[in-house]
Amino acid sequence: MRVLVTGALGFIGSALVPALEAAGHAVRGLGRGAGSLADWRQADLTRPVTLAGVCADCDAVIHLAGIAHTRASGADHGAVTVAGTRALLAEARAAGVGRFLFVSSIKAECARDAYADSRRAAEALVREAGLPSCAIVRPALVYGPGMRGNLERLLRLADHPWSLPIPRGLARRSLVHRDDLVRVLVALASRPAATATYTVTDGMPYTAREVYDAMRAGLARPAGRLALPAGLVTALARFGDGVTRWTGRSCPWDTRALAPLLESCVSADDGVWKALGMAPRHTLTQAVADMAEALRVGGGAL
Ligand SMILES: NC(=O)c1ccc[n+]([C@@H]2O[C@H](COP(=O)([O-])OP(=O)(O)OC[C@H]3O[C@@H](n4cnc5c(N)ncnc54)[C@H](OP(=O)(O)O)[C@@H]3O)[C@@H](O)[C@H]2O)c1
Repeated sequence: MRVLVTGALGFIGSALVPALEAAGHAVRGLGRGAGSLADWRQADLTRPVTLAGVCADCDAVIHLAGIAHTRASGADHGAVTVAGTRALLAEARAAGVGRFLFVSSIKAECARDAYADSRRAAEALVREAGLPSCAIVRPALVYGPGMRGNLERLLRLADHPWSLPIPRGLARRSLVHRDDLVRVLVALASRPAATATYTVTDGMPYTAREVYDAMRAGLARPAGRLALPAGLVTALARFGDGVTRWTGRSCPWDTRALAPLLESCVSADDGVWKALGMAPRHTLTQAVADMAEALRVGGGAL
């Protein structure tokens, strides 16, 4: 197949493209800047005119592009994820694309914020698009070499002689290794009969403390014994919310800042693995060494 991959240069896209090629597919990449793929389209989802013809001659689209790892307004998520997906779907329809995979997020099922709202809205557009075959993939938080955002920050914090007293308990998160997610995407791309909404996790929900401890173990750092009481963190977040309200300036420890510790987002749904006859191959603890190496090589010692 010829497969268009949006967000091809991103954290997930940069692993998906070679995996699709290894599976025998021709890949067309899409991003806002210049790309190194022979078949590359420079386009911006927020400017539909730049999308004209991007799906021509493609059998499938894997739509990864979106705002991830950074805080953005509802308007920005709406422009990129909702309006951008609508414009891409119109292109896919016009080009007669047979298979469309939308990479949404597990947050569509457990969060109420601008990111999750835009994911749910875009999912609805995909379901209603009238394309021959669509599927929605909801990855849990993705880890692996080159990961960004909260997990990258936590890995840097974990590589220190002294352990942080991160509370035990509190929220739990599902995670998935990038390579396992990529295996699922490659398999789903060529299974037009698979048209459901698929949550993808490694099957092991983790608390932030468990993630932190797994990172320290993988980095050969001694395990920490101290842990703040969970109630103290919740109280601090509420106090921070008050400071944010009174001062009008975002307090560094309000509910939003501490959300990774406070908000659960877990799924025990292993339906996609069963449907594909596959199983996750990675766990966080095994993957930490590669993740740390990528950070060291990619700039900035831990
Ligand atoms: N990483 C995770 O933990 C995770 C978990 C669940 C779901 N997801 C979803 O999976 C997708 C990929 O995530 P990722 O981690 O690979 O993110 P990433 O590294 O930030 O990559 C996102 C890509 O989206 C592209 N993009 C952003 N705005 C665009 C626009 N206006 N027009 C065209 N392209 C645009 C960017 O391309 P350029 O900058 O090259 O233009 C970038 O390559 C996202 O939709 C994300 O929400 C990620």
